Amino acid sequence: ISSENQSILSAYEWLTKLYHHLLRYTKDGKEGYSYFQSRNVSEHAIDEFQLGFAPNIKDFTAEFLKKKGFHQQLLVKAGLVSLQDDNSVTDRFRGRVIFPIRNHLGQTVGFGGRSLGSGEPKYLNSPESELFQKGRLLYNFDLAKKHIRKESRVIIFEGYMDVISAYQAGIKNSVATLGTALTEYQAKLINRYVDTSILCYDADKAGLEATYKAANLLLSVGSDVKIAQLKDGKDPDDFIREYGAEAFENEVIRSSDTFMAFMMRYLKKDFNLSLEGDRIDYVEAVLKQLALIESSIEREYYLKELSVEFNLSIETLAQEINTLRENSG
Ligand code: GTP
Ligand code: MN
Ligand code: MN
Ligand code: MN
Ligand code: MN
Repeated sequence: ISSENQSILSAYEWLTKLYHHLLRYTKDGKEGYSYFQSRNVSEHAIDEFQLGFAPNIKDFTAEFLKKKGFHQQLLVKAGLVSLQDDNSVTDRFRGRVIFPIRNHLGQTVGFGGRSLGSGEPKYLNSPESELFQKGRLLYNFDLAKKHIRKESRVIIFEGYMDVISAYQAGIKNSVATLGTALTEYQAKLINRYVDTSILCYDADKAGLEATYKAANLLLSVGSDVKIAQLKDGKDPDDFIREYGAEAFENEVIRSSDTFMAFMMRYLKKDFNLSLEGDRIDYVEAVLKQLALIESSIEREYYLKELSVEFNLSIETLAQEINTLRENSG
């Protein structure tokens, strides 16, 4: 690690502590504290996730860090402040609540900053850098690791707030992507720790599409995938707030679907099953997905289901699958 990156880490460490302290104990952070109160985030969770608040003062952060001996140029490079035309600096995260994002070593390598109201963008992240690569990090992975191992499963959410709500509900084996689609790097990382991944994305169109892609990716790296689906356009944080922790555990996590059950439902939206041609295309689309499944027991289970639903012989379906599997190597 370069000495410049070392300094950037140190700047993030100072700021994580400062923003957290301000939020927790001072008038300057009251706005942020009230914000989390309004979203039912407990003091314990605020401490656990080191949540903070960056005051809405143009050069607050820069002044603080300059006093600690950091050069302005480094702060610009770290994405903490931006340089104006007149050479003055503006704090990137001013007026936002701060979600420190840590790497696997527990070092803060970036921030997610949420606006308190309807200000756009809703979330602002640190810019990409050597230290902060959104496609390689997972929010909360460092703390979740031991719970992921213990429970032999990981829950993958879309948002920081989903992870925090789940934590408050006693579910500690969860991580979130950083506002981008799950990457192959992340899928492989997860698969090194655990065999079963539960995808629990927002119940909207974007969430559904993202679930489909992430599920295929996880499957392709050899992970078992389950799908926990919410209803009514909700996200996990909304659901937990409205129906409580127990309902989330029992009705969402425990009753998560197998990948194929999800897939068979998901693929139906593209076909009109009252048309013969569409029925054949649908069965072929399902078979393609089935061919990706490693467990022969699981494959056979869904083959039977298909065979009954579409009145096709198991032998024909099995043969088709074997061809697909051979062709994909
Ligand atoms: P809340 O409104 O605070 O509950 O956020 P959310 O997590 O439910 O947000 P949403 O479902 O819209 O997005 C999921 C995740 O995508 C967030 O946690 C962020 O990481 C990311 N995200 C959301 N909005 C933005 C944005 O405007 N810019 C960026 N860069 N990321 C965003
Ligand atoms: Mn595995
Ligand atoms: Mn969403
Ligand atoms: Mn959401
Ligand atoms: Mn939300």
